[in-house]
Amino acid sequence: MSQATATAHPNIALIKYWGKRDLRLNLPAVSSLSLTLAGFSTRTQVRWSVPADEVLLDERPAPERFARRALSFVDRMTPDRPPVSIHTHNDFPTGAGLASSASGFAALTLALRAASGAPQLDRRALSVLARQGSGSACRSLWGGFVRWNRGKRPDGRDSHGLPIAAADHWDVRMVVGVVRSGPKSIGSTDGMEASRRTSPFYQAWVEHNEPLVDAAEASVLRRDLPALGELMEQSTLAMHAVMHSTRPPIIYWRPGTLACLHAVRELRASGTGVWATMDAGPNVKALCLPADADRVQAAFAPHVERCHVLGPGGPARLLP
Ligand code: PMV
Repeated sequence: MSQATATAHPNIALIKYWGKRDLRLNLPAVSSLSLTLAGFSTRTQVRWSVPADEVLLDERPAPERFARRALSFVDRMTPDRPPVSIHTHNDFPTGAGLASSASGFAALTLALRAASGAPQLDRRALSVLARQGSGSACRSLWGGFVRWNRGKRPDGRDSHGLPIAAADHWDVRMVVGVVRSGPKSIGSTDGMEASRRTSPFYQAWVEHNEPLVDAAEASVLRRDLPALGELMEQSTLAMHAVMHSTRPPIIYWRPGTLACLHAVRELRASGTGVWATMDAGPNVKALCLPADADRVQAAFAPHVERCHVLGPGGPARLLP
């Protein structure tokens, strides 16, 4: 086969990854746990036998940084390669803290392997490859609730996503409040490295996170939203404390971020089961049951550009 198309959903970490134990192989300092989200997706076509390299994003030549990152991933996966054409389309904003690199590199990995005619790999091996494009991409190979163990091996073969419960295990909602769209002020790789080098809290973060992952996995398996929600908030606030204590400080929050966080706390005080998480950006994502999603959306409305309500999504897959 010389061409293939794949699709993948983004995922949002419930227990966060921040920090690398190996920069070249993109190995994390901490394990993490995520939820793959339906509603948003990336679709990527890879074609060999073309005259020259081309990378299109949403039918236009991709920004240089984006193209360079995609092509250096291809170089790594397929050394001594012929020119390649990559057409990728996101049905949601790219590079705006909505995890487009997770769905993007998961879809690219799957399409690249299939288009190369290489022997099909199992999902774990694909996840190891996707991790080298973007860490969080290794979780988007699977649907539902996914754990990414940091692993111990220096070659990283034990550091990949693993499904802990499929999308239909638990019907929850992630209400994504877009406080501000647009590119983030500092990318996650640079931010993580700066935190590792300069935050006095970094080591504590690394040690504190592992028990959270185990406890969160158990709470997913017993569908215990209050337990999971509390662990999720602990993890995200600890990660942002590390960011804030990095020198120079990494502050992704905007006034709307804090307003949404307080809105979540107020809803909870009045009896709604909802908990918040944030990534490397100003947006706030709230985890709740489907029946409460409208109420959360209404509470976010004054503070955000727009809201998306997303449920659990399936694994990355090849398209015919
Ligand atoms: O996979 P990256 O390099 O985009 O880093 C993701 C970092 C966070 O979104 C902040 C946390 C996570 O676990 O997804």
